[in-house]
Amino acid sequence: MKGVILAGGTGSRLAPLTRVTNKHLLPVFNRPMIYYPIATLKKAGIEDILVVSGKGHVGHLLELLGSGKRFGVKFSYEVQEEPGGIAQALGLAKDFIDGGKIIVMLGDNILVDDIKEAVQDFEKQPSGAKIFLKETKYPQSLGIAEIDGDRIINIEEKPKKPKSNLAVIGLYMYDSSVFDVVNTLKPSKRGELEITDVNNYFIKESTMTYSVLKGWWGDGGESFESLLEAGQLVAKTIKDTGHDPWCTD
Ligand code: DAU
Repeated sequence: MKGVILAGGTGSRLAPLTRVTNKHLLPVFNRPMIYYPIATLKKAGIEDILVVSGKGHVGHLLELLGSGKRFGVKFSYEVQEEPGGIAQALGLAKDFIDGGKIIVMLGDNILVDDIKEAVQDFEKQPSGAKIFLKETKYPQSLGIAEIDGDRIINIEEKPKKPKSNLAVIGLYMYDSSVFDVVNTLKPSKRGELEITDVNNYFIKESTMTYSVLKGWWGDGGESFESLLEAGQLVAKTIKDTGHDPWCTD
């Protein structure tokens, strides 16, 4: 399966840190933020990865990441002309994916779990999508899953009255029909093509499965607090275990 890391957007919630620098290049403990999703995908066996970012930033990412040789993966790059939303950025991966299954990770998401098993499960899943959930303290800032029994029945983006504390994290797997779904989307109130609308499509089709993360997860790009918290959690994990789960050497 091929992977996509989305590293576009404006990063406005982290201004002025992001006035010049792309959010995904900001430090999280001892490395740039984008190194974490790279490590997560690599550990799961994903070695062909498309990096999507905005016009002004794709060059910086290319300079930092290069061909991928240093990481033991292969990078390709795609430009998102305007930050039109996560689903719009995903749509740009259509030619790269070329009819296969896809795993998409947001460049500001950091997680400690090894997702290899879930990836293998999705390889066997006949069609549809698979997402990852994790309990959160900040349900109003995230996509939140509504569960009935063991089925997800809906996802609400940044709900005022959250129906659970289970966040849909920024890691999604789809079959190639996702590109047709993206083509049907209309911009949301915030003017973006929403990944939550894509996920709700697969829920309605009853082809959505999910996996709940065991270890911690952080969205490093949500706020100054979340950026700081992600760095602290990474430092603590490495110190407590004496092992660096994001090492790509
Ligand atoms: O972190 C998980 C959350 O990510 C989910 O729970 C939400 O359902 C999902 O909508 C998303 O919410 P955010 O408000 O955090 O999304 P944000 O606008 O910060 O974008 C997240 C990443 O997507 C960011 O690292 C860069 C990429 N992105 C975003 C936009 C809007 C792009 O590549 N292009 C874009 O146009």
